[in-house]
Amino acid sequence: MDDNSKELLGWIQNQVEAYLEACFVHEGIPRRLASAMRYSLLAGGKRIRPVLCLASASLCGLEETEDILPFAAGIEMIHTYSLIHDDLPAMDDDDLRRGKPSCHKRFDEATAILAGDGLLTEAFVHMAACHRCPPEVLLRAMREVAVAAGCLGMVGGQQLDMDHTGRVDMTLPDLQHMHALKTGALIRAACVSGARLACADTDRIASIAAYGEALGVAFQIADDILDVVADSAELGKTAGNDEKAGKNTYPTVLGLAESRDILRERSEAARKALEDLPDVPERTLLTDMVGRIAQRALEVRK
Ligand code: IPE
Ligand code: IPE
Ligand code: MG
Ligand code: MG
Ligand code: MG
Repeated sequence: MDDNSKELLGWIQNQVEAYLEACFVHEGIPRRLASAMRYSLLAGGKRIRPVLCLASASLCGLEETEDILPFAAGIEMIHTYSLIHDDLPAMDDDDLRRGKPSCHKRFDEATAILAGDGLLTEAFVHMAACHRCPPEVLLRAMREVAVAAGCLGMVGGQQLDMDHTGRVDMTLPDLQHMHALKTGALIRAACVSGARLACADTDRIASIAAYGEALGVAFQIADDILDVVADSAELGKTAGNDEKAGKNTYPTVLGLAESRDILRERSEAARKALEDLPDVPERTLLTDMVGRIAQRALEVRK
């Protein structure tokens, strides 16, 4: 990633962080619930999805990205909820997240379930607060995110993941479908909603959608590879859990070498999708994000 992209990335991440930091501090939320929501939300995620949303909006010509900061933050709330629930004993039973005890470990299972529910629901309160966006544009962008987070997206993908846990029995098309839903959909929606909020035309939306779709799949392939080749300290979550749990992943279904080939191919497709868009710093950042997501998984040797 070049220095300009690093600087731009840091600047966007700081904006998101500052916004999230101010959330759920007001009185009225039961104290333990607010503590659990803030604990997971502020535990130091990479903020990839809000960055994708805000950079896509800028790339499509939105000047005041501050106007849609609550929207981008809402996407991060949905993502954080998905991680809290993903770690629960009934799902991946993971004790470590973002380098800290998972929400149900630090608090308790009931609180973790409710903190996830709270983050999911409050996300839409924040998204709906983008008063400067034309209402019909905002509504369409919110729907995009809701569909991607729901039964035809992340939740549906997580169900497929759980259905096949303990029996590594997926074909490549099954695996591709599951990845596109459980991780790809929200990443794609982060990009597309940003473009929509910038009132982009259909050609630009299509390019951003192609980018988000390829990046989303690359993202989960990289995550699957890193689970095998990286260690828990680097990941901030328990390494090696996928094999232990009998998860269907790219490495378990195809092996590492072929997984890396597909990761390279999807990364290239993501970069290529941006080629016809304006040559502004946000395009370079989005292009560089691909490498940032894929590089470690391509490099680390076990
Ligand atoms: C991890 O997502 C979960 C997956 C969807 C694979 P991230 O790698 O974006 O996690 P954080 O937000 O930085 O913790
Ligand atoms: C989960 O995938 C993706 C979500 C929708 C949360 P994983 O189960 O592989 O995510 P990690 O590895 O626990 O972050
Ligand atoms: Mg999982
Ligand atoms: Mg997991
Ligand atoms: Mg994983």
